[in-house]
Amino acid sequence: MLYGIEKLELANLPTPIERLVKVSRYLNKNIYIKRDDYTGFEFSGNKIRKLEFSLKEALEKGANHLITCGALQSNHARATACVAAKLGLSCTLILKGNESDEIDGNYLLDKLFGAEIIFISADEYAFRRNEIMKNIKENLEKLGIKPYIIPEGASNGIGTLGYVNCFEEILIQEKKLNIEFDSIVVPVGSGGTYSGLYIGNQLHRANKKIIGFNVSSTAEHFVCRVSELIDETVDILPEKINICKKDINIIDGYVGRGYSISRVEELEFIKKIAQSEGFLLDPVYSGKAFYGLFNENLKGRFKGNNNILFIHTGGQFGLFPKKDVFEL
Ligand SMILES: Cc1ncc(COP(=O)(O)O)c(C=O)c1O
Repeated sequence: MLYGIEKLELANLPTPIERLVKVSRYLNKNIYIKRDDYTGFEFSGNKIRKLEFSLKEALEKGANHLITCGALQSNHARATACVAAKLGLSCTLILKGNESDEIDGNYLLDKLFGAEIIFISADEYAFRRNEIMKNIKENLEKLGIKPYIIPEGASNGIGTLGYVNCFEEILIQEKKLNIEFDSIVVPVGSGGTYSGLYIGNQLHRANKKIIGFNVSSTAEHFVCRVSELIDETVDILPEKINICKKDINIIDGYVGRGYSISRVEELEFIKKIAQSEGFLLDPVYSGKAFYGLFNENLKGRFKGNNNILFIHTGGQFGLFPKKDVFEL
C-alpha cells in the first residue's frame, strides 16, 4: 500500500544493495548497486515493480487480457507476458519488428509465455502504437474479452508508483546499512523509473540527487517526458502534493550509436565489469548507464558525491541476441 494505493505482491523485495569493491577503489568513491535485477518473475528487473501497481488496477477493473507494446527485445513486453501467464490472463504484445527476426532473447521468452505477438513497423510504432493498442482492445471487447492496456514500459502514473515505493525501500535500507546515498543513478528508457525516484525524493525531502542516463533520444526529450509523468503520477495520489521540477537531472552522451545498438567500448566495459565484479550489465540499459556513471565520475561530474547508488534494472536476456558482436 502506497499513499492508500494498493499493489499486488509479485516481486522479491527488498532487493539487496551491494558495494562494488573494485569499481569503488578505481573511482575513489563508494559505488553501490541495488540489485533490482533480482526482483524475480523470471528476471523481470525494474518492470515488475511497476507491474505490481498496473496489475492491481487491471484486476480491479475485471481485466482478463493484457495488451502492451515494446521493441522486439523489450524487457517490459516479456515481463508482461510472464505476469499474464502467472495470473492466468491472456496477453497481446505489439512489437516493433518483423516476423522473420531471429527468435532469441526476450522474443523467444514472449513465445514461451504464450503471448500473442503482433508486429508493426518502426514508423507505426513511433506514431500509432497507442491507437493500434486501442483498436485491438475495442475488437477484443466485441468478443466479450476484458482487455487492459499497459503503455510502453508501464510508464504511466500508476506504473511509476513502483519506483516511489522503491525510493521508500532505499530509505529503510540506508538506516539498516548505516549509509546515506548522495545520489541515485538509473538508466532512462521510458521514464517511469526515474520519475518514481524523483517523486519519492521530493515527498521525503531526502535531498538526494536523482540522476538518469538516457539510452535513446535526447536528455531534453526525457526531461519533458519525465515532467509529464511526474504530473500524471502526482495526480493519482490521494493527497495533493507540490513537486518542484527544477532539477530533473538526465545526462546525455551515452546513447552511442542508438537505442539498443552497442559500441565496442560499451561491450568491452560490460566484459570488464563481468570479469572484475562478477555481475552482468545488459547492453541496452544498465550497460550504457553504468558506463556513463563510470566515465562521468572520471570526468569529475560527481564531485562531492561520495556514496553513489546505481540501480541495476535488469534486462540481461538482452545479452544473448548480442552474442555475435562481443569479442570473446
Ligand atoms: C532493463 C531495463 N532497464 C531500464 C529501463 C528503463 O526504465 P524506464 O523505462 O522506467 O525508464 C528499461 C525499460 O525501458 C529496461 O528494460
